[in-house]
Amino acid sequence: MQRISQKIVVMGLGYIGLPTASMLATKGHQVLGVDVNEAAVATINSGRIHIIEPDLDILVRSAVNSGNLKASLTPEEGDTFIIAVPTPFMEIEGNPKAPDLTYVEAATRAIVPVLREGNLVILESTSPVGTTELIYKIIIETRPELAGKIHCAHCPERVLPGHILRELVDNDRIIGGLSKAANEQARDLYKSFCNGAILLTDSKTAELSKLVENSFRDVNIAFANELSMICDKLGINVWEMISLANRHPRVNILQPGPGVGGHCIAVDPWFVVAAAPEQARLIRTAREVNDAKPHWVIDKVKAKAARFRDPVIGCLGLTFKANIDDMRESPSFDIVKDLLGQNIGKIMACDPNVQASKVNFPLFDLKQVIKEADILLLLVDHTEFKDIDLDTIKDKVVIDTKGVLR
Ligand SMILES: NC(=O)c1ccc[n+]([C@@H]2O[C@H](COP(=O)([O-])OP(=O)(O)OC[C@H]3O[C@@H](n4cnc5c(N)ncnc54)[C@H](O)[C@@H]3O)[C@@H](O)[C@H]2O)c1
Repeated sequence: MQRISQKIVVMGLGYIGLPTASMLATKGHQVLGVDVNEAAVATINSGRIHIIEPDLDILVRSAVNSGNLKASLTPEEGDTFIIAVPTPFMEIEGNPKAPDLTYVEAATRAIVPVLREGNLVILESTSPVGTTELIYKIIIETRPELAGKIHCAHCPERVLPGHILRELVDNDRIIGGLSKAANEQARDLYKSFCNGAILLTDSKTAELSKLVENSFRDVNIAFANELSMICDKLGINVWEMISLANRHPRVNILQPGPGVGGHCIAVDPWFVVAAAPEQARLIRTAREVNDAKPHWVIDKVKAKAARFRDPVIGCLGLTFKANIDDMRESPSFDIVKDLLGQNIGKIMACDPNVQASKVNFPLFDLKQVIKEADILLLLVDHTEFKDIDLDTIKDKVVIDTKGVLR
């Protein structure tokens, strides 16, 4: 395996950039991590971390102590530049879900002055089709002498939070370069730490394949969410029905829930819709079905609450998935916030993974919620909730959006 040490500049030191920068540093590359967040830069330079991810603290400490990883607010010259900044959506010209490329553009403009002939610029951020070409255009607009002499590639990231370090090494990687040379240079770099297969293509195919992976999951979950509403109407247990249907050798329906959250599955499909609004009808509808599910859950709670004089409603879970503390785009959080604003009874929110300081409403202990609630709304399948003794809740009205209190 080729192991040539390079000077690598990583733009953005969040959940993707920091693990990647530290992994490259521990493989012998000289890495400069750049972030606009001064506190993050100072924390990393002291060998500590500012985000939560298992074992990342150990990797960063070892990378910083080896002298191979340094963090900075400004980029320097190097061989390879990796861009791993956010790509959220924002309202642009009447489209409320248009891709927001301001971070990618700013990171690109920041490296333009230090680029040299032969450099490789890798875009790791999940991006709309055409973004790698846009980066190249921004570079040669300011530095026309670099036309044809700078290599650009998109190498999307598919790691799962909570397992990032393992998946960075083991996952297969797609590399979509603007040229053959870009593909070869990027392949050699990823080979220095990836055990997974390295699959070469062009930039647009790489960009769309990443967006499609998350759109596929979103469409499948929308199907499950639609089934959950059909089953509710027909008095059928959706989880039992799906587990039976999945016994077919070529059927694999995902699980329904209170909606879809997080900053990937709930966001990336909109980049496909924005690029081809007339063709991406199924992808758009899936997003709409999943975004509508929290309202359906709220209506269910309101209908049950109307049967009580002063109902106490226990809401179990605030995060966007089980056993994490992340509430980004979380439908559970939105449902609880909405219920708190309705005048339908006392709302007792409970999430053992969320610190009280992270929300602006009171959080209650699980035991107290189970004791006092008339209605229990289960929103996240945290382990603590799966372990609830069903005997202790047998007299309560249960609305279980995850199918764990059966
Ligand atoms: N987190 C994941 O699980 C995951 C998985 C796959 C893909 N992605 C994609 O990777 C990209 C990065 O995601 P993330 O989770 O690491 O985001 P993040 O918010 O954790 O980190 C992004 C970092 O970039 C910094 N930044 C912003 N503008 C900058 C600039 N101009 N120059 C330098 N730094 C800048 C921010 O301060 C922040 O520290 C996104 O496109 C995301 O969709 C994330």
